[in-house]
Amino acid sequence: MAKDHALMEDSNPSSNRSIHEISNPDRRIVLRGAAASAFLAPLSKLSALGGAVATVTGCATMVGSASTGPLLGFKGIAVGTDDTVRVPEGYEVQVIARWGDPVGLSGENPSFKPDATNSAAEQEAQFGMHHDGLHFYPINASNSGLLVINHEYVDDGLLHRDGLANWNAEKVRKAQAAHGVSVCEVEMKNGRWAVVTPSPWARRITARTPMTVSGPAAGHALMKTAADNTGRRVLGTINNCGSGITPWGTYLSCEENFIGYFKGPDQPDAHQRRWGLRRGDPVGYRWHEHDARFDATRHPNEINRFGWVVEIDPMNPSQTPVKRTALGRAAHEGATVVTTKGGRAVVYMGEDARFEYIYKFVSRDTVKPGGFAANSGLLDHGTLYVARFDENGRGVWLPLVQGQGNLTVANGFADQGEVVIKSRQASDLLGATKMDRPEWIEVDKQGWVYCTLTNNSSRGSKDQPGTDAANPRANNTMGHIIRWKEDGDHDGLTFQWNHFVLAGDPINEREQAKGNVKGDSFGCPDGLWVDGRGVLWIQTDMSTSAMGKGELAVMGNNAMLAADPTTGEVRRFLVGPVGCEVTGATGTPDGRTMFINIQHPGESPSERSDPANPTRFSNWPEKGATTRPRSATVVIRRRDGGVVGT
Ligand code: FEO
Ligand code: CA
Ligand code: CA
Repeated sequence: MAKDHALMEDSNPSSNRSIHEISNPDRRIVLRGAAASAFLAPLSKLSALGGAVATVTGCATMVGSASTGPLLGFKGIAVGTDDTVRVPEGYEVQVIARWGDPVGLSGENPSFKPDATNSAAEQEAQFGMHHDGLHFYPINASNSGLLVINHEYVDDGLLHRDGLANWNAEKVRKAQAAHGVSVCEVEMKNGRWAVVTPSPWARRITARTPMTVSGPAAGHALMKTAADNTGRRVLGTINNCGSGITPWGTYLSCEENFIGYFKGPDQPDAHQRRWGLRRGDPVGYRWHEHDARFDATRHPNEINRFGWVVEIDPMNPSQTPVKRTALGRAAHEGATVVTTKGGRAVVYMGEDARFEYIYKFVSRDTVKPGGFAANSGLLDHGTLYVARFDENGRGVWLPLVQGQGNLTVANGFADQGEVVIKSRQASDLLGATKMDRPEWIEVDKQGWVYCTLTNNSSRGSKDQPGTDAANPRANNTMGHIIRWKEDGDHDGLTFQWNHFVLAGDPINEREQAKGNVKGDSFGCPDGLWVDGRGVLWIQTDMSTSAMGKGELAVMGNNAMLAADPTTGEVRRFLVGPVGCEVTGATGTPDGRTMFINIQHPGESPSERSDPANPTRFSNWPEKGATTRPRSATVVIRRRDGGVVGT
């Protein structure tokens, strides 16, 4: 939601330096500074590396590269603009778990009504909208398992037969039911995957599901509301974007742009402003009209109860999800867990908002055998850090610990609960580096940690001129991927860093749009996944308002590409249907089935469909004359049953 630059959250007033000022605001110098990433090839050598380029009617059509490498064994595909999912020769796609399909609750099997007249109660038993992060948990090896799927947001123009007209409490409840998380059982028979209904594991978690709060903010005064005087019980999770998995078998669902659901006062206070609360009605949602907790003028602490990482045990449908506040509060994109050699859990997290930060949490205790039961408190005790990137290719993790550094009572941090609730303000004081909308984070087999910085825009376009106002080159429309390697293990306090790749168009004359992709080009990287063989999969999310226009026109629809972390080669693997985002990736242990999500096919540039013409931009996946576009999970397999990507 609110991916348009004009509406996107931009709430960091600190004078901390941005990644532009540190790496260099002029992308040309980063491009020339190939020493920073030894494998980066000069653009003039692109064709020799297989990134053939052709010009068609004034645009570039990047043709899939054909070279082979130890990791990337498929023939890359071209940019696409049609309303389908395209994959390489020898691969096939299946569509499962569409918005509105029954998730498999026992005794509840409501079929999808193509005119969007399913009730709120029916939506509570169906897959939600706008699929995002996902993970496969095997049950019977690589032939059956659980899929856990985030539902990030909804398009009310598509969700209800008459869209926002006749707005009422039932519509709010249906929208809330289409948010959250789905757990479903899937199995493969004769190479075809399907959702098992009913299934004892099937579950819907929505914006109304009771959750508990744990960690330093549990019970804090800033977490208490009229409906919950304990500060320990929250209803629901919203804007569930990226996800993570723990070594003990749980799923981490991340609350991203939660502030957009709240009505703000005429004059938001400093805390509310720092978290992006705007004056008056929210731009995208009308929940506050029928659910008072989303009216921050009446319930100001409710905003503090969102922006957390939520831990879910997919194997236990009766588990109460837990908001893990020790990991800090943020517009969380994802939460990627690795284990140190000594057994501590380290969680890397990016905050997807303009000029916000990158965090990591290091657990105090070590991971124990015995699954969730043995590790149910592991994410409640540890140290939260925020990243400072320095221009010499070095970086430091700054601890967000009350009583250390500037995080004192005098600076407004009474206790650790206040530090994690106000992690943005704490990071401002510590001098963390302002980033270009950090999205997913992944770790490769050599220990490099990658983070997509999807894009950003100069402060010069905003009412409030910032440090980049005089520097239009900071307008980073294409995005980039940085990476760092910790000194020592993942709990190290310092690191080295560089740019893995600058996304962009190899023939664009504007240096800031050019990029240095070695192979097939892309723009606005978002999802990341390192598969079992070590391939770094990159998914793109050019916003619907920007897709197909200007310098993004050559990129076509959003896509998924495979990168070799060692050589830097990038090859296009999949192109999504019109108006979609490609996001979330997981696979079976044998590597022969990949699952990804297609989010908001046919999304209108306004991010709100016209209920009178819901198929205007797309009718994927059914492709019928009147079938609404539906977010869905896509299964990708080689026709010969081989390992995906080889
Ligand atoms: Fe929900 Fe930052 O993508
Ligand atoms: Ca994302
Ligand atoms: Ca995104």
